[in-house]
Amino acid sequence: MKERLEELKQEALLQVEQADTSEDLQQVKVSFLGKKGPITEVLRGMGKLSKDERPVIGQMANEVREAISEAIETKQATLEAKKLEQQLKEEKIDVTLPGRPVPTGGPHLLTKLIQDIEDLFIGMGFSVAEGPEVEQDYYNFEALNLPKDHPARDMQDSFYITNELLLRTQTSPIQARTMEKHEGRGPVKIICPGKVYRRDTDDATHSHQFTQIEGLYVDENVRMSDLKGVLNEFAKQMFGNDREIRLRPSFFPFTEPSVEMDISCKLCNGEGCSVCKGTGWIEILGAGMVHPNVLRMSGFDPEKYSGFAFGMGPERIAMLKYGIEDIRHFYTNDVRFLKQFHQA
Ligand code: PHE
Repeated sequence: MKERLEELKQEALLQVEQADTSEDLQQVKVSFLGKKGPITEVLRGMGKLSKDERPVIGQMANEVREAISEAIETKQATLEAKKLEQQLKEEKIDVTLPGRPVPTGGPHLLTKLIQDIEDLFIGMGFSVAEGPEVEQDYYNFEALNLPKDHPARDMQDSFYITNELLLRTQTSPIQARTMEKHEGRGPVKIICPGKVYRRDTDDATHSHQFTQIEGLYVDENVRMSDLKGVLNEFAKQMFGNDREIRLRPSFFPFTEPSVEMDISCKLCNGEGCSVCKGTGWIEILGAGMVHPNVLRMSGFDPEKYSGFAFGMGPERIAMLKYGIEDIRHFYTNDVRFLKQFHQA
């Protein structure tokens, strides 16, 4: 019996050794240590042994059983480790492979530019104010010194909704609305971005809808030199420190005197080229000192208060800054155009 046990042990250990997978090992376990296995059989046959032999064989059978289970456990651990190693090898990430790009969006060029302009003026103490796009005739025109039959209304062809309501043609009505809210007390120092609408036929330089940014500063002792200083700072920050500005006399019903601001042409440095039409200067915005009538109508005393206002078109600024030749690019949402202005 001793020999039989020794044989079983050797046989089992050999099979454990040869097992290549956990399944093989399980098989070995079942066939040697299972209830119907040979060792159980040996133990069952112990009844036939003499009293002296019984404990010796019993102990040996237990030892053989333990030796086999231990071998199985050790082998199981080895197999698992091997399997894990294999898995790690197969699932390894090759960090040298090129990555797949993740498509991302970004703010529209105009949105970004308007935010930059807002930031620039916030840096000079302005705050942002807004107003409705469907506007009353009163705020869009009358409160800006443009009574009903004023010929200057023709400067801006309008989309009327009713006799008294229209799509605003400019951001200037926000001036009147904001001053009204201040009830005659300064300072009012605002910048007003927004969409405006005009009855224009769309082409490379005209659009029935575009954006404007208005500025207004009303307080005691606001002078034209303040306007010039603020606009000069804006031009330098927006177009570069080497740009010069000049103010030309102009006309707007709500400012007196009125001016238009030009910046020196970056392309030809003032020499004259096709972009500046040979003048060396490029028109950027309209501005002026707030007309006393406008101050008065919005509840400010023109004897005590004075102010300046300006209005610019972000599309025009973007076109000049980035050399965009057609205003319609801003609205047709061609990603090939828009993507050029995405910043990481
Ligand atoms: N609202 C004027 C326009 O649309 C621009 C402007 C604003 C001019 C403020 C002077 C002062 O043409």
